[in-house]
Amino acid sequence: MADKRNPETLLFYVNGKKILEENVDPETMLVFYLREKLKLTGTKHSCGGGGCGACTVMVSRYQPRTKTIMHFSANACLLPVCQLHLAAVTTAEGLGSCRTRIHAVQERIAKAHGSQCGFCTPGMVMSMYALLRTRPQPTLDDIIEALGGNLCRCTGYRPIIDGFRTFCRASDCCQANSMEGCSANGQSANDKNGAPELFCKDDFRPLDPTQELIFPPELILIAESQRPITQTFQGEQTTWVSPVSLEELVQLKGRYPEAPLVLGNTNVGPSMKFKGSRHPVIICPTRVSELYDITHTPQGVWVGAGCTLSAVKALLEKLVLELPLDQVETFSALVQQLGHLGGWQIRNVASLGGNIVSAYPNSDLNPVLCAGRCVLRIISQGGEREIPMNENFFTGFGKTLLNPEDVVLSVFIPVSEKGEFVRAFRQAPRKENALATVTAGMRVRFRPGTCMVEDLSIFYGGVGPCTVATTKTCQHIIGRPWNEETLNDAYTALLQEISLPPSAPGGKVEFRRALTLSFLFKFNLHVLQKLREMGIILEDVQGEMVSAIQGLPEQLQPCVQEFQEVPQDQPSLDPVGRPLMHRSAINQATGEAVYCDDMAKVQGELFMVIVTSTRARANIIKIDDSEALKLPGVVDVITTRDIPGKKFLSFPGMEEEVLAVSEVTCVGQMVCAVVADTKEHAKQGAAVVKVDYEDIPGPVFTIEEAIEKHSFFEPQRMIERGNVTEAFEKTDQVFEGEIHLGGQEHFYMETQSMIVVPSGEEKELKVYLSSQHPTYAQESIAETLGIPSNRVSCHVKRVGGAFGGKVTKTAMMASITAVAAWKTGRAVRCVLERGDDMLITGARHPVLGKYKVGFMNDGKIIAADLQYYSNAGHTADESILVIEKILLHMDNVYNIPNLRGWGMACKTNLPSNTAFRGFGVPQTLLVVENMVNDVAIKLGRTAEEIREKNMYKGQSLTHYKMEFDPQNLHRCWDECLEKATYHSRRAAITKFNEGSRYKKKGLAIIPIKYGIAFTEGFLNQAAALVHIYKDGSVLLSHGGTEMGQGLHTKMQQVASRELRIPASLIHISETSTNTVPNTCPSAASFGTDANGMAVKEACQKLRRRLEPIIKENPKGTWSSWIMKAFLQKISLSATGFYRGHDLYMNWEKQEGQPYAYFVYGVCCSEVEVDCLTGDYRTLRTDIVVDMGKSINPSIDIGQIEGAFTQGLGLFTMEELKFSPSGVLHTRGPSQYKIPALCDMPLQLNVHLLAGSGNAHAIYSSKGIGEPVLFLGSSVFFAIKDAVVASRQEAGLSGPFRLDSPATPDRTCLACATRFAQMVPASDPESSQPWAIHV
Ligand SMILES: Cc1cc2nc3c(=O)[nH]c(=O)nc-3n(C[C@H](O)[C@H](O)[C@H](O)COP(=O)(O)OP(=O)(O)OC[C@H]3O[C@@H](n4cnc5c(N)ncnc54)[C@H](O)[C@@H]3O)c2cc1C
Ligand code: FES
Ligand code: FES
Repeated sequence: MADKRNPETLLFYVNGKKILEENVDPETMLVFYLREKLKLTGTKHSCGGGGCGACTVMVSRYQPRTKTIMHFSANACLLPVCQLHLAAVTTAEGLGSCRTRIHAVQERIAKAHGSQCGFCTPGMVMSMYALLRTRPQPTLDDIIEALGGNLCRCTGYRPIIDGFRTFCRASDCCQANSMEGCSANGQSANDKNGAPELFCKDDFRPLDPTQELIFPPELILIAESQRPITQTFQGEQTTWVSPVSLEELVQLKGRYPEAPLVLGNTNVGPSMKFKGSRHPVIICPTRVSELYDITHTPQGVWVGAGCTLSAVKALLEKLVLELPLDQVETFSALVQQLGHLGGWQIRNVASLGGNIVSAYPNSDLNPVLCAGRCVLRIISQGGEREIPMNENFFTGFGKTLLNPEDVVLSVFIPVSEKGEFVRAFRQAPRKENALATVTAGMRVRFRPGTCMVEDLSIFYGGVGPCTVATTKTCQHIIGRPWNEETLNDAYTALLQEISLPPSAPGGKVEFRRALTLSFLFKFNLHVLQKLREMGIILEDVQGEMVSAIQGLPEQLQPCVQEFQEVPQDQPSLDPVGRPLMHRSAINQATGEAVYCDDMAKVQGELFMVIVTSTRARANIIKIDDSEALKLPGVVDVITTRDIPGKKFLSFPGMEEEVLAVSEVTCVGQMVCAVVADTKEHAKQGAAVVKVDYEDIPGPVFTIEEAIEKHSFFEPQRMIERGNVTEAFEKTDQVFEGEIHLGGQEHFYMETQSMIVVPSGEEKELKVYLSSQHPTYAQESIAETLGIPSNRVSCHVKRVGGAFGGKVTKTAMMASITAVAAWKTGRAVRCVLERGDDMLITGARHPVLGKYKVGFMNDGKIIAADLQYYSNAGHTADESILVIEKILLHMDNVYNIPNLRGWGMACKTNLPSNTAFRGFGVPQTLLVVENMVNDVAIKLGRTAEEIREKNMYKGQSLTHYKMEFDPQNLHRCWDECLEKATYHSRRAAITKFNEGSRYKKKGLAIIPIKYGIAFTEGFLNQAAALVHIYKDGSVLLSHGGTEMGQGLHTKMQQVASRELRIPASLIHISETSTNTVPNTCPSAASFGTDANGMAVKEACQKLRRRLEPIIKENPKGTWSSWIMKAFLQKISLSATGFYRGHDLYMNWEKQEGQPYAYFVYGVCCSEVEVDCLTGDYRTLRTDIVVDMGKSINPSIDIGQIEGAFTQGLGLFTMEELKFSPSGVLHTRGPSQYKIPALCDMPLQLNVHLLAGSGNAHAIYSSKGIGEPVLFLGSSVFFAIKDAVVASRQEAGLSGPFRLDSPATPDRTCLACATRFAQMVPASDPESSQPWAIHV
């Protein structure tokens, strides 16, 4: 039968299913098409800008030229559906399903415990799957490259790698296949030495390529037999034209010169989404074959401008292997840059031409292409011409010499000549998937057989609005011999040639200038080494300098996870203490796990977008919504006037306007909200709501300003042990210092999400949301609407990460959504975009800590006076509670007899900061440990000596008079020193540092004591509800929410033990306020302790009721007993309640019992720092934690690794940047860097302390979610240790200030190399800085 299809119809396949689309909106990205149109919600949307990998899919295309099928991973959030003609898309759902058969990739990430909240998991699965489709036996390096563009906020990556590396080689699981089961049902495997392991590799199904979806033969047939024709798609605002010949492309570009050419869409897409760029016409030339031509000549290679960066990398790698070494200098330099540019998904779609024409100021390729004398072949209606990429090519931000109608056809990359050397450099805030801070390409050519410089080009990125040439500097060198004198002149010239004002976008101006010098110095060393190899110069590069041009170590090592096997006499059915897999891990890996925004739309559902304040402090004069209401699809605009009940929400210590009433007090404050039929329409509506403001002068942003203006929330807190003032007079030495610690964005992968569905009768509302405190949302909604709580039921299936950020802010937004639902009478959904989430919801409190410490010459600290100022933002939220926690933990593990702390929450005009894992403790401990470190530096002793000397010993009292026994702290300390072979490594590091000038190693060991439970005693309660159905299946509900921390899995284990039935019979559907009322937040690391006891009680009640029946028929089955009980009219439903510890803190008396018990832990980290760039790598981390008897070692070790990694991010990477007018610059993963796979310590060993117990919590376990986050600071202090070694080389000694995070810029400047010291400090008076230190 003839194909009657319109030849312009878009044809593609998704998971083997054929899709025909007559008309798709060019602005529709694949992620939304999959989720909304095809209901394939396994592909997640998290950042929308290609920066996180949650939306990764595999795209397959048939290539008629080579008759091969190409598979590659891509970010569905940047992939226009219009571009998919003749492609086959595979999503997580296409691989496998819990209902049929799961795929090996899905199984391994799940069973290796690589999925916690699971929001990143389908993306991880798809990246790995795409790799296996191209390389079924990948190397570990391949895997690391493939996952470089995927972020996970929960796991710390180690388990993901451990699961996936089993594809690299034959598994060698110690346990025979006969073992009854492994991680999936809670049985652990054992390694060759008999030590238990977290999962058993032998259990994994093999990778079976015959099971894969085949590429649709129809697409091959069409590609082979049909002549492609031009396709045009018309959307609401944009027309998409996809030409098929070069001639047509040139004509189109002539007709629509302003129309962008969309290839990878990695620049055009984000600028449309985030900057609001609009294009009436988009031209997609991906079917123009000339753009992909590769032509080799003896002088070099012409590479089609449409080639993807992955294809360019593969081509150049091949040439590097094939051509003589002296010809491939530029190729090698480009390969090096391409290895770090973006993530794999970006490189798989982004084009070479796109990278050049985008003209990013910090492009990785352009400086090298320019230095390497590359040439562009341009085509337009005027004909073809060639343009050299030289100092004139880039003319400004995003601008080049090209005319708007020009198309870059290809790029010529010349081979290098004899005596020519090319090198590339980059330094980025994160090693992978991060635009560089500064990049460079450098090429030198020498007169044959000499060291006389004939030609030199040096180009930098990241030091101006575009790629810049350093022509003047080069002139200082050309014609002179390559020696120290010439180079010294060059450094001085470079410093003059490249200068940046403090206001330069991106900030960090001193660092960027220092990098330009450091890179030139590194180039110098490379060149000297080459000249030496060629026999042109005789002196070797000095041994201590060589390390400056060696890369930091990269090889991941096997890691140890040590935990205790359950007692031999424990029944095999009893899962407590075993490494049971997260109960939803498989569903998460297949994409079947349902998150809030995955829920199907309700009939008539609306979408809500929040309008936020653009002013830091102003009166609202008028909200004009008239333009918004005229737009198609916009239904209503919600303001504070629409709130029928309370316009303020209260929480202990806070009172906050739901929507701004008459005044705004920060940029990002919620002012009103637009509801429309679709998300796009709501966004368009929100963009045109006009709010008139009248600025109020004198906003306060920084802690220093707040101190000066005395802008604090009340109460301020103080606590003192001993007499600090008097004690200072008796100490040998007194030292005063301070440290500032920046805030931290929660960056949960699932942004704030909620759906409010009015039932239509009796004022009932059902609320589905992603919250760690559904009861608070319920109460807030009821208060806002002025209805009783019994009309509002809140339901939380699972949360895609929370970390403290989904308590107060979620309730606030749910209340606004409820008002919208109430007013319109329709269901309303609100899911924040990443940028809005980061702007609105606040973060961890930045803290300024000032200290005065008095100590004896033997290292004993006698007195310390600490002042803590947190930046609370514009409302109090939980800030006073955070300040209290800061003071309660300021002793950490140290018995300082005279200790005083002051805590002030600064009221500023920034978004309100809130709870974040650790709740102030990481901040206070950093200040304390920094103080102890300074004491060590002052005394010239090692920090571990001072730490050990001052630790609590024997039965002790905290500074608030709580009694405790620190014995397990000392056990952790000793064990960590031993497991980490601390002392021998310390000696090795000293030796290494003596022989290396610009790479230094550092080592640090850090202890913690962390109090568990809520100090507000009433929060230490929990309830559970257990139903047994007649078939014996059990439905368990409790008050805690599942956020990836494995709470539901642990509750299943508790119920399994108590009911004495397999865990598989127990189901947990959701957390809801109508099954378990009046719940407390899942926070304070107390979820298992509290809910576990409640579940235990409910199960024990049921078991007691069943006992007579079981006694009567001991050989009966569980289901027979249950049926019997039913027939005997025995209730098979029970509640359990836990009335937890009556904790308190009396601030007047300065004493209390604020915690149920302490968790202890010690962590040792070693780093290697490149002092020239501030780059570092964590070589090894050993963690020992006393967490009693673990209920589930895989979950607990997962929490430890995840928290450590978040701490590593807090103390070394993550930076929130605010403009001088209080606007948050960092609103997505492109600007805000959380740890990625490349930041994992090369070896991360975790040991759970053996032989520990805990009388205060269920089954002798201990809470673990928060305590070890601070251990990430061991990396901070190891960096500081390395910096000390660098400063010694510069003749500097004594304490110095290194604020947190120890980012490359801070580290580099603190290292005080000669290049860092050459850069003059910016004059803050000369212009406003780009960012302020809040
Ligand atoms: C998450 C992320 C991380 C990134 N990391 C890095 C990084 O580390 N280093 C780095 O250097 N870059 C990085 N980038 C930038 C990326 O490399 C560029 O966006 C990409 O190379 C542009 O290519 P494209 O095909 O996607 O361009 P498109 O977005 O499709 O097009 C970009 C622009 O180029 C023009 N254009 C494209 N091709 C041609 C042509 N042949 N002739 C004329 N004009 C043309 C278009 O008209 C358009 O204006 C990153 C981008 C993202 C989204
Ligand atoms: S959602 Fe696509 S990369 Fe983040
Ligand atoms: S499991 Fe990776 S983000 Fe939660």
